[in-house]
Amino acid sequence: MSDKLFIFDTTLRDGEQVPGCQLNTIEKIQVAKALEDLGVDVIEAGFPISSPGDFNSVIEISKAVTWPTICALTRAVQKDIEVAADALKFAKRKRIHTGIGTSDYHIKYKFNSTREEVIERAVAAVKYAKRFVEDVEFYAEDAGRSDNEYLARVVEAVIKAGATVVNIPDTTGYCLPHEYGAKIKYLVDHVSGIENAIISTHCHNDLGMATANTISGVLNGARQVEVTINGIGERAGNTSLEEVAMILKSHKDLLIDTNINTKKIYGMSRMVSSLMNMPVQPNKAIVGRNAFAHSSGIHQDGVLKNRESYEIIDPKDVGIDENSIVLTARSGRAALKHRLEVLGVILDKEALDTAYEDFLKLADKKKDINDDDVLMLVGKERQEHSRIKLEYLQVSSGIGIKPVASVCLNIAGEKFEAASSGNGPVDAALNAIKQILRRTTVVKEFLIQAMTKGSEDVGKVHMQVEYDGAVYYGFGANTDIVAASVEAYIDAINKFVK
Ligand code: KIV
Ligand code: ZN
Repeated sequence: MSDKLFIFDTTLRDGEQVPGCQLNTIEKIQVAKALEDLGVDVIEAGFPISSPGDFNSVIEISKAVTWPTICALTRAVQKDIEVAADALKFAKRKRIHTGIGTSDYHIKYKFNSTREEVIERAVAAVKYAKRFVEDVEFYAEDAGRSDNEYLARVVEAVIKAGATVVNIPDTTGYCLPHEYGAKIKYLVDHVSGIENAIISTHCHNDLGMATANTISGVLNGARQVEVTINGIGERAGNTSLEEVAMILKSHKDLLIDTNINTKKIYGMSRMVSSLMNMPVQPNKAIVGRNAFAHSSGIHQDGVLKNRESYEIIDPKDVGIDENSIVLTARSGRAALKHRLEVLGVILDKEALDTAYEDFLKLADKKKDINDDDVLMLVGKERQEHSRIKLEYLQVSSGIGIKPVASVCLNIAGEKFEAASSGNGPVDAALNAIKQILRRTTVVKEFLIQAMTKGSEDVGKVHMQVEYDGAVYYGFGANTDIVAASVEAYIDAINKFVK
């Protein structure tokens, strides 16, 4: 008989804290419904006091989702808890996630407080949250660097106050796997009343050990894991859902099961990557483009003779059906619709017609259309509704001549033209746009990626643009790399030009 491990997904809270990856409420609902379909037990939908957008998203996700518990984050502050309770009012199952830092770094430098005072604040927060909901999770922020004896006292006190789940975050991603496992075991062995709460892991990936630490926590008694799709999250990210789910599926000997329908993992991963404009690194375990690609002759030969000689996971188990990945100009509308559905994108008839027209144009230029291309087409559709659109772009460049570009922008229905030179074709085009907008922006990061190999292929551009002290993220994809760069710049400026 296996033990059940609860999957707590925080893609929409910790994951969404990544600069430039913010989603609007409609996109968050789309992700939440897909997470429900995937089989997660808890969805952390946001931090309601942090912004009206987060508050509203928690309300709308609560209405849209049936089975998973909806969780809202708070600090150990009464007002936060009241606002979270209000945001959760439509949730069928609800949880407040409240907490406070327990390491000496937090106690001394963040709160200028004492260990005793922090215990009092933790207990008061849990008791206050219990007035609104039955299910209260407590997080001991920076538990990874907290003294185990003190941590055990905090955990014991909050369980006594009514906490149903105790979260032990390795907030800075500092712990070694054996150390994190020992911390969980210490709590299991020393906290009286620990059997009345579920211990949760919450590991960050600063040293690349998030998944190892999470599994070590589970092996030592944790029965909830806090994870994100594709491991996204602040800095180096959080533990990735797909890695934990597939480790437990591959190691049946551990006798620990999750509710995750692993066949939905690939579609979920692509949906989050596409909505957040956050590329998945090609060698990312489970969902990276190369995760199942065997390029060496020896490996290919082995896999063809018997898949298990080099593959421990059947790609079909994570929803990758190799036969359906590539579409061509001969693929019909139904094939495109099916592919989009596998990738978690449902379009109405009108949007599908537009996507199919764009698909045929791209298929004329590019022989094989893969999942990234398909998602890029749907992303373009989203850009159609932007306030600033590119009407045309003409660039002249070469060796021995100064690059010049002329650009026409459509801003809220009015057309504006400008021409400029620059150090290169992209610089010339951006200078022309800046003339129209008359704003001082600085391109902080500019990353070009080929989507696949080959001369006629699509290039993706990720750009970070600084304006008025804040950094905005933009994405563009086009067979012409200068056009992709301009699209990325326009995508970024659409986020601050109102
Ligand atoms: O990393 C962390 O400590 C957190 C808490 C707020 C749960 O995200
Ligand atoms: Zn975190």
